[in-house]
Amino acid sequence: MCEVILKNVTKIFGKDNLVIDDVNLEIKDKEFFTIVGPSGCGKSTILNMIAGLEEVSSGAIIFDLKTVNDLPPARRDVAMVFQSYALYPHKNVFENIAFPLKIRKFPKAEVKERVKKTASVLGIQHLLSRKPKELSGGQRQRVALGRAIVRKPRVFLLDEPLSNLDAKLRVYMRAELKKLHKEIQTTMIYVTHDQAEAMTLSDRVAILFEGRIQQCDSPQMVYNFPANKVVAEFIGSPSMNFFEGELIREDDKTSVRFTGQDSFFMGGEKELELKEKEVFFGVRPEDVIISLEKKQGWFSGKIFAVEPLGNATYVDIEWNMERLKAEAEPEFHAEPDSPIYFTFKKEKIHLFDKREGKRLNFTSL
Ligand SMILES: Nc1ncnc2c1ncn2[C@@H]1O[C@H](COP(=O)(O)OP(=O)(O)O)[C@@H](O)[C@H]1O
Ligand SMILES: [Mg+2]
Repeated sequence: MCEVILKNVTKIFGKDNLVIDDVNLEIKDKEFFTIVGPSGCGKSTILNMIAGLEEVSSGAIIFDLKTVNDLPPARRDVAMVFQSYALYPHKNVFENIAFPLKIRKFPKAEVKERVKKTASVLGIQHLLSRKPKELSGGQRQRVALGRAIVRKPRVFLLDEPLSNLDAKLRVYMRAELKKLHKEIQTTMIYVTHDQAEAMTLSDRVAILFEGRIQQCDSPQMVYNFPANKVVAEFIGSPSMNFFEGELIREDDKTSVRFTGQDSFFMGGEKELELKEKEVFFGVRPEDVIISLEKKQGWFSGKIFAVEPLGNATYVDIEWNMERLKAEAEPEFHAEPDSPIYFTFKKEKIHLFDKREGKRLNFTSL
């Protein structure tokens, strides 16, 4: 078992290139924990520090209440799987998986036993005598995973392990990884730039931007209550729509006036943190309601494009000087340039303060 804590971890490369800025994380024993963020935000650097491949500049890395800062990688007992998994080309699958046990001088019988068990967990028992070049991409990635799990490490670190696979296989392997985690019951720290991967796999996710953790919570919370505009923009596909607006308050009622002069009535307020005036108003495509017929009190815009996906249709709307995306029924059909009317699901509105992008909490009545 292993709980991993990062306490005020900072990494500076060279003289002053601050890449990880005061990161605090508490990863629970047996948790599937994902760090997600765009390329270059510092994900691999964090994993490398947990593995001991990279030193921390300051702060502590703690495994089960013991600081491991000074332990070399081999003594931390972690296994790492990378995006480019280098298998030994001249060894067969059995020998590739067995390798970490061989160099640790495990008895032959135990090696055989563990490799067989590992291969059956991964569904590759029939491939044990093949060489890597005789395997598909997905099978090779499974062998790489096998090599990591065979020695039962305390913690698994996975650095974009699915990024080299094609889109279809990636979605398939996602489910495999989730099942694998259930079976081996070991703490997994997973890194990806793919928000869908993070959302589907994880017990909890941490969103990393420019070396700083923006939010750390369950996928549902991150999706429904993004802590700031950066998270709101990054999580969910297609992305949330944003409009600049000004909060107008009359008695106990609040509206948002958009730059195009239209306003949206937010309702009476109950609990308000809305001291700010200038806001970003955010709404996800699935929370925009549209109609081709004129509706009282709805906004009017013009259809820019219609994108049928099969299971849903996205509608791009021109509205004053802005653009927004709405999710419509799969059967929705309309010609570009035709008028369209829309409104927003009131309880699904997000507000962020304009200066810092922080979420503003409110309850509309
Ligand atoms: N060994 C290194 N020396 C100098 N800069 C580095 C080194 N490793 C990473 N960086 C820089 O740190 C930043 C974060 O890199 P990385 O952790 O690889 O990001 P990610 O994995 O999220 O794509 C990048 O700007 C990268 O150029
Ligand atoms: Mg990386």
